[in-house]
Amino acid sequence: MTSTKLLQRIAAVATLAIILLLFSLLHSEKVEWLPLPEALSRGGDNELSRLHLLVVATASNLNLCRLVLSGTVLNYPPPILIDWEGEGIYNASESHLAKITGPLRYLEELSPSKDDDLVLMVDGYDVIFQFGPDVLLERYFSALSASEARLKGQLGAEFVQQHNVHNTIVFGPDKTCFPLDHQHPRCWAIPSSPLPGDAFGPETDHDMEHHRPRWVNSGTIIGPVADMRELFRATWSKVEKTFDPENGSRNSDQMYFADVFADQEYVRTLVRYGEAGLPPKEEKTRPDLGDGHPTEFHIGLDYDSRMFQTCAGYEGFLSWTHFDQPAPFTDLETPTSQEIILQKDVLASQKPFAAIIDDKTLRDRPWTDVSLGVNVVTGFAFPLLHFTSDKSLRDKWWPQMWFFPQLKRLMLAASKKRNDKIGSQKINGVRWQKDMPYESKKTGGEANTGAWSDKGERLSWDLLCKEHEETLFNG
Ligand SMILES: *[C@@H]1O[C@H](CO)[C@@H](O)[C@H](O)[C@H]1NC(C)=O
Ligand SMILES: *[C@@H]1O[C@H](CO)[C@@H](O)[C@H](O)[C@H]1NC(C)=O
Repeated sequence: MTSTKLLQRIAAVATLAIILLLFSLLHSEKVEWLPLPEALSRGGDNELSRLHLLVVATASNLNLCRLVLSGTVLNYPPPILIDWEGEGIYNASESHLAKITGPLRYLEELSPSKDDDLVLMVDGYDVIFQFGPDVLLERYFSALSASEARLKGQLGAEFVQQHNVHNTIVFGPDKTCFPLDHQHPRCWAIPSSPLPGDAFGPETDHDMEHHRPRWVNSGTIIGPVADMRELFRATWSKVEKTFDPENGSRNSDQMYFADVFADQEYVRTLVRYGEAGLPPKEEKTRPDLGDGHPTEFHIGLDYDSRMFQTCAGYEGFLSWTHFDQPAPFTDLETPTSQEIILQKDVLASQKPFAAIIDDKTLRDRPWTDVSLGVNVVTGFAFPLLHFTSDKSLRDKWWPQMWFFPQLKRLMLAASKKRNDKIGSQKINGVRWQKDMPYESKKTGGEANTGAWSDKGERLSWDLLCKEHEETLFNG
């Protein structure tokens, strides 16, 4: 290295140090982010992938405990409570923008060896699980291949490859655009639903209830760490560029995610088809892409709720049923309704009560012998239920979940047996395991219950949920 180059390098390092110092001074009144413990930086192993479960929750309550408990009995990774006791820009009860800053902070801190891991991120107070992470992962990869086939069909295989157009991040689906503004790109510049034109019967798309979902819901998102980090960075930058203190929706994280999705879809169409592929400028507003920022974030939607079942406009199309008799839905007037059979991935997963080893009759009961929630339009028994509209359904449907009658025994069984593996075989060619981010090797079975804060604090089940046990176990 010549001496001029060396001097240049020293100057560059010094400048960076000064910037970092200024930055930390500017932010010194904010809550300190504790670096993640060593345990995080295990070396990468291509034969093994991890799933992280991030839950946005500033404090505990009954609804958070429902999520944590259903995740515990179904063997999900220990939840990381993002924005836990968060202050300022990390206080999600003050502003939903903390649903962008909190996860971003976590993603920025993860070691690069975790870039290929998957992150499942969900709202804290209106989500519960019905099936385990093995079923969810199977559905995730099937959703990706369905979207790849669609993209190739719509845009052409060559185009898709040339422009690196593919989906790796999947959002839950909504039946309405929020905030609603028919001229705005977030409401029009997005793909139409791949569900059949009569999916919701003759009234399909005529009103909210019968609308085929095609807008993002930001309460459930899954994707690879590296892609999620890029998406959250871009979404935060969208906030910085477009935040309007006068706007009633200014604190809606969903609006900014929807705007980023719209940019992506607008550009995908524009580059492929030019102006001819777009509605006239006089009718629809175009996104502002002024500074030429990247727009491809690999965002897709779970159109058929094979993973994420939202409730808004869906109450009339969800049913609880046993799959022990054929054709349970012949009375419904939807095209897929004649033959709903339980998906193979559910049948292949561990039997519902298998963990209760001291009760032979119970542990041998198959999935076809418990009541399961199913989307009668798409035919999927869903891994996750998201109460997006009527919040009273959280109380009403909890006792209908298959695990409810045996919850106490299931929780006890889960707390005794430690199992870091997800499922019993490879999914998408890889063995999956739960990410155990802050855990020391010593922490025993009790690490299977409770949660962790995003600052690395262990939050025990008793601390979080003891006071809600009566309602959780008895309805
Ligand atoms: C977060 O915001 C809520 C509502 O403004 C407030 O009551 C609470 O004290 C805040 N939490 C923290 C930790 O600052
Ligand atoms: C402000 O709110 C309206 C809807 O109420 C929305 O369409 C618009 O995009 C918002 N603008 C910004 C910059 O947040």
